[in-house]
Amino acid sequence: MTRILFYLDGYPHDAWRQALLTADPSLEFRSYPDWGDPCDGPAYAVVWEAKKGLLAAYPNIKAVFSLGAGIDHILNDTSVPHDLPIIRMSDDGLKEGMAEYVLMTVLMHHRQMPVILDQMKKAEWKRVYSKPASAMRVGIMGYGALGQHAAAALKPLGYDIGAWSNSPKADEDAVTHFTGAEAFERFLARSDILVGMLPDTEATKGLLNADTLTLLPKGASVINAGRGSLIDIDALMEALDRGHLSAATLDVVPDEPLVKDHPLWSHKKVIITPHIAAITRTDTAANYILENIKHIEDGQQVTNVLNRKIGY
Ligand code: GLV
Repeated sequence: MTRILFYLDGYPHDAWRQALLTADPSLEFRSYPDWGDPCDGPAYAVVWEAKKGLLAAYPNIKAVFSLGAGIDHILNDTSVPHDLPIIRMSDDGLKEGMAEYVLMTVLMHHRQMPVILDQMKKAEWKRVYSKPASAMRVGIMGYGALGQHAAAALKPLGYDIGAWSNSPKADEDAVTHFTGAEAFERFLARSDILVGMLPDTEATKGLLNADTLTLLPKGASVINAGRGSLIDIDALMEALDRGHLSAATLDVVPDEPLVKDHPLWSHKKVIITPHIAAITRTDTAANYILENIKHIEDGQQVTNVLNRKIGY
């Protein structure tokens, strides 16, 4: 029998209980704080922003599943044993949600929605002219499962897509690939619409700053659907204010929730969404978790496991 120790603060657990039990009626679902005795035998933890120290207090946990694509919330707890497998969410629902968000926001930037919304507030009836999609170079930062899904959603519209990633990717998907630090500047220089889809790691913190934002073409715009730590917000606002950048859509910011009096809220070139780009769906996630538990139990290779060397 599979035992799940579930933690998700501030939200009811019933939908998760139901989805997991529908996928496997024989499992035991323990909802925090009723995780029982730490020595109650093997279990799998399924968590989002668990209390620090909680995972370390249950030595029988065999693996930890993040309820989201990000695992920074688990790594922030330094008491989590280093040999405990940590698995990112990468279910179909999350990929679809992220692809929808990227498609929506790239189209909004391409068709200059921030300008139109600003005109609308002033009751200004004024045409804006946009280039054809084939002349818009979209740059996807991070080409894992989510980045690839987003690129596949954009492709039918004809965008000229580039992708930047750590490890080389097969050149077979009509995407121009850029690999590693040495290709970063060339990648930025060809990104009219830059889409951040990177995890929070030592290597990604502040990667978009006063120096690197300047390398984007004049008039470029930025979308961030990964982690807020990627962008130095002061540098971003400065680049928007001096006209180097035309717009930004941020689903994530360094400190969430964004404080009420933050100047980003009222910036006319900025659209803020409250970290909703891809919200994990219970049905697809339950299947993903249970399939992976089966792989672990069968001694098979599990994908999307944290590699501590690279931090995601
Ligand atoms: C959301 O931010 C996630 O990590 O899935």
